[in-house]
Amino acid sequence: MSQDKFLVIGAAGQIGTVLTESLRKKHGYGNVIATDIRDGKPGDASFEKLDVMDIGRMAEVVKKHGITQIFHLAAILSAKGEAAPIPTWDINTKGLFNVLEVSREHGVAKVFFPSSIAVFGEGVPKDNTPQDAVLKPSTVYGISKVAGELWSQYYWNRYGLDVRSLRYPGVIGYQSEPGGGTTDYAVDIFHKAMAGQVYKCFLKEDTMLPMIYMDDAIRATMMLMEAPPEKLTVRTSYNVAGMSFTPAEIAQAIKKRIPDFKVVYEPDFRQAIAESWPHSIDDSQARQDWGWKPAFDMEAMTDDMIAHLQVRYAIQNC
Ligand code: SER
Repeated sequence: MSQDKFLVIGAAGQIGTVLTESLRKKHGYGNVIATDIRDGKPGDASFEKLDVMDIGRMAEVVKKHGITQIFHLAAILSAKGEAAPIPTWDINTKGLFNVLEVSREHGVAKVFFPSSIAVFGEGVPKDNTPQDAVLKPSTVYGISKVAGELWSQYYWNRYGLDVRSLRYPGVIGYQSEPGGGTTDYAVDIFHKAMAGQVYKCFLKEDTMLPMIYMDDAIRATMMLMEAPPEKLTVRTSYNVAGMSFTPAEIAQAIKKRIPDFKVVYEPDFRQAIAESWPHSIDDSQARQDWGWKPAFDMEAMTDDMIAHLQVRYAIQNC
C-alpha cells in the first residue's frame, strides 16, 4: 500500500468514475478521496462534495485528508462550452488555478491536468499531428486547455510543482457516460446499437477523429503519474493516441457484430468542431519518455464494449 493520498476532482464524470475505481484498486479505498459537484453516496467517508470554484473548500478537503496527489478532471467540454463561452473559460481556468494554488500552498506533490486534442486547430498537419504543433484552437474549451497546459508548465518551472498532463483523444468506455463533448458520439452509438435503436449521428460519416479506449486512457494516466520525473521531457501536455476512425467505420464494426444496426447522419454545429481537430496523433514522445503503447485498436475496443454492454443491457431487460 502506498503512503500517498489521492484526490480526484470530478470523480462522477466520464473519466473520473473509472479513474477513481482504478486508483482505489491499486492504493486502497480510503487512500482515494472522490470529490464532485454532485452528491456522493450518503455516509461515504471517502467522498467530499466540492465545487472547483470554491478554493476555500478545496483547501479544507486537501488539509483534512492529507492529500499528496490531485487528479483534476472537472471541466466543461467542447460542444457544451460553445453555448456559454465565458462561464466555460471561468470554470476551466479558475478550477485549474485553484488546484495549482492549493497544491502549492498545502504541499501536494503531484497534480494531473487533462488536456485534449481540442488544443489543435488551424495550421497543423491533420495526420499524425506532432507533439510540438502550433496550437490555434477554435473552441473555448480548446483555448482553456492551451492556457492550462502553459500554466501547468509555469508552475513546474517557477514553483517546482510536479504537474503532469495528457492530451486525451475522444475517450470511449462502457463504464460511464460522456457529457458535452464532440467525440461523445462514439460512446452513444454503442448504447443505441445495444438498445436496438437507430443512431442519429451528429457528425458526417467520413469525419475521422483520434480516439482511445477507456482502459488505455486510464493506463496512460497512471503510467504518466508514476513515471520518474527525470524521464519527462514535456511539461505542457503529452500527445497520446489509441486509434482513429470515422462514424462510418465504427458503425460498420458494430454492424459486423449486430447486423440489424442502422445509423443516419444529421450533422450539426459539432461538425465544425470535429473538422478543426486532427485525424490522428503522433504520440512518439510519450512512447519514448515513459513507454506508452495502446493495447486497444478499433476491433478490440468494439468487441470489449459490446461484451460489457451486453451484460448490462441483459440485466436491464430482465
Ligand atoms: N472528448 C472531448 C470533447 O469532445 C475532446 O477532448 O470535447
